[in-house]
Amino acid sequence: QMIKLKYNGHANISLTKDNVTILIDPFFTDNPVNKTNPNEVECDYILVSHAHFDHIGDTLDIAKRTGATIISTAEIANMAESQGLNAHGMNIGGKFNFEFGSVKVTQAIHSAGIEGGLACGFIIDFYGTVIYFAGDTALFGDMELIGRMNNIDYALLPIGDNFTMGPEEALEAVKMLKPNVVIPIHYDTWPPIAQSPQNFKVEVEKNCDAKVVIVNFNESIEI
Ligand code: NI
Ligand code: MN
Repeated sequence: QMIKLKYNGHANISLTKDNVTILIDPFFTDNPVNKTNPNEVECDYILVSHAHFDHIGDTLDIAKRTGATIISTAEIANMAESQGLNAHGMNIGGKFNFEFGSVKVTQAIHSAGIEGGLACGFIIDFYGTVIYFAGDTALFGDMELIGRMNNIDYALLPIGDNFTMGPEEALEAVKMLKPNVVIPIHYDTWPPIAQSPQNFKVEVEKNCDAKVVIVNFNESIEI
C-alpha cells in the first residue's frame, strides 16, 4: 500500500499508511487556506516543529481528543505533558524509532515560540520512505551534510520568504539535499508569503535532478 500525503496548506501535512497517521504542524483553525475541520481529524502521532501558532496550531486539542503522541522538542513535549497529554520529547540531532519507522530532529534557523526552545525540522522514515520536513528555516550550509547522510525521497521545503527561505534559497537547498522529489510548502497562506510554486518548479527542474510536485491545498497524493 502506498503512503497518502495530504496537504492542508501552510506547513500542515499528514502522512497515512495502513492505519497509522502522523500529522505534522497541524494548523487548521484560523488557517485561511484550510478546509478540514480539526475536530474530525484522526491521528496517532503529531510532530511539532516549533510553537508559533501557525505550526503548533490545533495540536493540543487534537491530542486531547485522540490520545495521539506529540513528538517535538523538549520544551513543547514538557508543556504538553504538563497538560496531561502523551508526548515524546526529543532534541536537535537525536533520532528515535517508532512503530512506523524513525524520526530524526534537525536544526532549523528560526525562533522557537516557546521559552528556552529551538525550532527544528524532521527527517521522517515512514515505512521506508524518507521525508525531510525542513520546518520554518533559513537556508543553512549543513543541508549539504543532511543530503549526504540521508537518502531523501521527498523534501518538504518552505518557499514563502519573509519568515523562512524564499524560492532562491530553497533552490540552493535542493542542490545540497539532493532529494528525488521536492514539495514546496509555507506559501500563499497570507499576502506576505505569496509565491509562485510554478516558477519554483521550473527553476528547480532546470537546475537540479529533483522533480517538483505541487500539491494543491486540501488535496492528497500517493507517494
Ligand atoms: Ni515560525
Ligand atoms: Mn511559520
